[in-house]
Order: sequence, then C-alpha cells, then structure tokens
Amino acid sequence: RPVENYGGVGGNFLSRMKSTKKRVVVFYGSQTGTAEEFSSRLAKQAARHGLPAMTFDPEECTDWEDVCKLGEEMEGSLAVFCVATYGEGDPTDNAQELYDWLKNGDVDLSSLNYTVFALGNKTYEHYNAMGRFVDQRLEELGATRVFQRGEGDDDANIEEDFVTWSEALWPAVCQRFGVDSALDTSNVREYAITVHSDLSPERVFTGEPLRLGSFANQKPPFNSKNPFLAPIRVIRELHKGGERSCMHVELDIAGSRLNYVAGDHLALFPSNDPRLVDRVGELLGVDLDTVFSLTSTDEAATKKTPFPCPTTYRTALSYYVDITSPPRTNVLKELAEYATDPKDKEFLLKITSSSDDGKHQYREWVLEDRRTLVAVLEDLPSSQTSSGPPGGAPASTPGQILLHLLLTQDEPDVSPRHAVLIDYTTRTGRRNMGVATGWLKRHQQKVQNGEVVLAPISIRHSSLRLPYHSSKPVIMVGPGTGLAPFRGFIQDRAAAKQSGKELGETVLFFGCRHRAEDYIYEEELEGYRDNGVLSGLQVAFSRDQADKVYVQHLLRESGAAVWELLEKQGYFYICGDARHMARDVMGALLELIQDNGHMDSQAASEYVKKLQKRNRFLQDVWS
Ligand code: 2AM
Repeated sequence: RPVENYGGVGGNFLSRMKSTKKRVVVFYGSQTGTAEEFSSRLAKQAARHGLPAMTFDPEECTDWEDVCKLGEEMEGSLAVFCVATYGEGDPTDNAQELYDWLKNGDVDLSSLNYTVFALGNKTYEHYNAMGRFVDQRLEELGATRVFQRGEGDDDANIEEDFVTWSEALWPAVCQRFGVDSALDTSNVREYAITVHSDLSPERVFTGEPLRLGSFANQKPPFNSKNPFLAPIRVIRELHKGGERSCMHVELDIAGSRLNYVAGDHLALFPSNDPRLVDRVGELLGVDLDTVFSLTSTDEAATKKTPFPCPTTYRTALSYYVDITSPPRTNVLKELAEYATDPKDKEFLLKITSSSDDGKHQYREWVLEDRRTLVAVLEDLPSSQTSSGPPGGAPASTPGQILLHLLLTQDEPDVSPRHAVLIDYTTRTGRRNMGVATGWLKRHQQKVQNGEVVLAPISIRHSSLRLPYHSSKPVIMVGPGTGLAPFRGFIQDRAAAKQSGKELGETVLFFGCRHRAEDYIYEEELEGYRDNGVLSGLQVAFSRDQADKVYVQHLLRESGAAVWELLEKQGYFYICGDARHMARDVMGALLELIQDNGHMDSQAASEYVKKLQKRNRFLQDVWS
C-alpha cells in the first residue's frame, strides 16, 4: 500500500481542518502501514462520536507552528498522535521532522489538547520509545493530555490493545468536550466507487505501487514508491535437511543505480497467490476482471484513492492487500450483515463485539486458528455472497462491498517480515504461507528452469555498517537468519584483504540446530576461515547434543579474547532474533566485560553505552 499523498488536497493541516470543519487531527508515524491504518480508524471513530476528524501525515507538515495555533484558534480541538517506534527506538521516517521539532522546539503548547497511541514491539529494547517521548515532550511543553497514552504491543495482540484503548478514548473525550456521543454504528462508507466499462487497458494499473506504467517503463531513481524490477539469478534452498526452509536469493541490480551496501535491507514487493485471489472472487461472487476506481468522498482525506486506481479487483487483491492474514473485525462485522444462517450471523456479531467473551472468541477462532478471509467464508458458508442479480447495480453487490472494505478500511498487519519464511499448517488443517514465502516458492521452479523472473525490489539503508577501516577488529554474532548481513560483511572484508588492505580480526559467532541440517553457508564460511579472512569461526549447534549450546555460551568461553578485541577499538554486532537471543547475548557481553575488565555491572553497562555512542556496538534485531 503506497503511503504517497496521492492527489490529496494541499495546504497545511490547520487550514484544512478549518475549511472542512474538523475538530480532531490524527498524526501518524507509520513505517509499515499499521499506525496509518489505526489513525484512519481513529478518525472514523471520532466522526461517529460527533467529532469530525482527519488524519495527517507529519511528513506533509509545512509549518509546525500550526500545532501551537491549533489549540489557540480552535477551541475543543484535539490532536491524536498515533506513532510507531522503529528500529532502535527511532521515529518512523515520516515522523522524523515531528520528532526533531518536538525535541528542539521551545514552544508554548498550553492550549493544545492531545493524546497518544504508541505502537511497538515488547521484544525490542526500546519499547514504544517514540510514543513515550511524544507524550512526555508534549506534556513538558504545556499541552493537556486529555486521555492516558495507549500502548500497542505487536508481539502480543496489537489489534486488541488498540481496540481496548480506543473504546475508552472517545467517551472520555466526548465527556470532556461536552459532546453528545450518540454512537452511530452503521459502517461509514467514505469511498465512492466507479465501475469502468470502456477504459483502454493502458490506463489501468497492473500492480505498480504508484505511477501508472512504472513497471513497463522503468525509470530511476528506484525506491519503495518506484521499485526496481530485478532479475532473479538464483533461488535455492539452504537447509540440507529437516522440515524447515531458508532460501538464498540472488538479484541482479546492474544498471539500476541502486546503492546497496553490506548491512542494508532489501525489500521485496511480493504479490498474492493467484489461486488464493481467484478463490476470494469465487466465494464472494465477484468478477475479478471488473475495472473500478475508489475515490475518497471525504474532501479532507490525505489520499484521494486508497491505492492506485483504476484497476481490476484481481490486481487490487493481488498487490494491495495481504489476504493471507486474518481479517480484522470490521470486515467480519460487514460479513455478518450478509450471513443468511442466523447461527452464522450471531456468531460473527459475537466475535466482533467488544465484550470480553467476543474478544476472546475473535482471538481463538480468527487469530489463533489463523483463519484467513477465505477460511472464514469456507467455514461459515452462509456468509458467502453470490453474484448479484444479472443487470443489477454493478458496484454494490455484497461481495463488492466486502471487497471495498477489505481494500480500504481493514488493512491487515503488513509489517515486513525479516527474512523469515512463513509456511505452516493451521489448527484447522489449512496450509498458510506468507505472501513473500508463497511468492518465492512459486517462482523458484521458474528460475531453476531458466525463465526470467523479475522481482520488484527497493533498498532500505541500515545503520549496521562495517568500520571504515578494515584494520579494525569486528565481532559478529548472528545465529540463524541473523547471519545474512554478516555474510556480506565477510565478503567485503575478503575483498579488502584481496586488494592488499590490512585486515583486523574478523570473528563470527553463528548458531543453528544441527550441523547436518541448517548450518547454512558451511563450506563458504569454512573456506573463509581456512584462507584467513575469518580469524575466528565459532558455531553453536543447539540440538546436536543433550544440552543446548548457544552463541552466547561460546561468546562467554571466548570472553578474554573478545575483551581484548573490544579494547583494540573493536566493533561488536548482533543480528537476528530480538525476543531471546539478542538479550541473552547482551547479557553475556556484559558479563565478559565485567570479568575481564574487572568492573561492576554498572561500569560494564556504561562501557557498552560508550560503545553504542561511538557506533561500535550495533544491532539489527527483529521478532
Ligand atoms: P534452539 O531452536 O535449539 O533453541 C538459530 O535459530 C539458533 O538460535 C537455533 O540453534 C536456536 O536454538 C538458537 N536459539 C534459540 N534461543 C536462543 C537464545 N535465547 N539465544 C541464542 N540462541 C538461541
């Protein structure tokens, strides 16, 4: 889903609020779309409570003074900050300026009313750092917090955190502002649909993120809004046995002018499985080749269209929504309206209600059972919508209405998954594959048969970087897929050595389950050890013996040597699982610093903090 201001209304937010009579503005700091989606839902909820609202991308802000003026010039107005934390406690790219302004600003916000919903992931060290910062800073600048900050944990159930918080928010705000909050429960439809019967094909989007024809006519600069179509040279399985899978993909970026440095992230724009897309069309009775456009009827909307239009339902379902994830409650609520069996209807209403029992059942039946929309429709057959009467209004069959909801209001969690393949059997016996996993598996055979497969890609730069001088020692800890950036690091160091540069110690700690199954790149790594590029290669096989051996155990065993390298201006890197590994490795690092540097625990933390400040302790972790 593109985050571009797609033909939106110009002007800063205050003038827009005034001209469209809004009282609430929801700023979103979004990297992957979740915060943006929550902010749209907040704006809709506000409107339903009698508080007209709009969302606003802080990146579009032309004058931050407007935040001060908002309170002064519009009594009874509210600013909601729905902000995610990214990476190592950072703001999202689009909220960087907001962050800087708040941080450096010396402004009086005493007439501003605000609240904050923070999005983050508890397995990261800096949980919700951005949301907490915004909340605290606004208070320091004199603003009035009208409702306590909400916090969403993407590691548990962020949807539930959000729903619980927002359900309590609006009644409190209405009471404070003296607004009669007669909740209108009808589904607000703020998009107008047009079905086109005579558009020439070149005017129809075919999956480009933003610019019509950008796939057919590739022009740099390439970025996440204009992906490069890279030929896939190699896709192969890395595991030598076992049930699990880990894939090696080589892409050719020659001629793209993309600047990729070892440590960077590569984004792949996958599309849904055509068979799954067909099945959605079938179960909803919708002709997927219908060309349609959706346009926002809310003149204050930032985006005129929710995704590139006009397009076909097939393209929309293939490229602009994740249909492999469980649907959110608002789609299921709409489905309840069409269910012909009273039992199905009652069940759908129940699991979408805000009662504790309803939430519990949603969690069990939808989330835990990992039911996709297709699975829901299959398991509640009376909610399948057949095609409308022949000759009926083409844009408003129940199936189409549902599709519009799915495509606009209810974006499932599309946060990028770091190099983790998702392919499993659910409790209901269905095979679920992540969008990217499915995409890679579908194309693997083609590439192996010598067919040209183009992968839409872009690059996101990372702060994980080798030291500028190759003579500095590096210690890399990257078990499992955490090895990925370090393979690039090692290749870079090998090239430096080859060109005659001095090479500092290069030590890798890798971990996997079994030597015979998932010791990926074994020959390559041992080759680097044998030719001296890797001065140390330590591999922890966790399941080849009775007791677990992990990277941090090996790290502790080599404590004295690691300490010596740190003291020689060494760099320390961690990449991989955030939930357990990164924390445990950090613990082992602190211990070895204490022991070998003869420090107490506080001094050891200070030591690591100093490394961090000097960019000599870097991590890229995920969960
Ligand atoms: P396990 O699955 O046998 O527990 C890559 O995923 C490797 O990381 C596996 O060998 C896995 O072992 C191991 N691993 C699991 N938890 C870990 C932790 N807390 N610290 C370090 N490695 C861990």
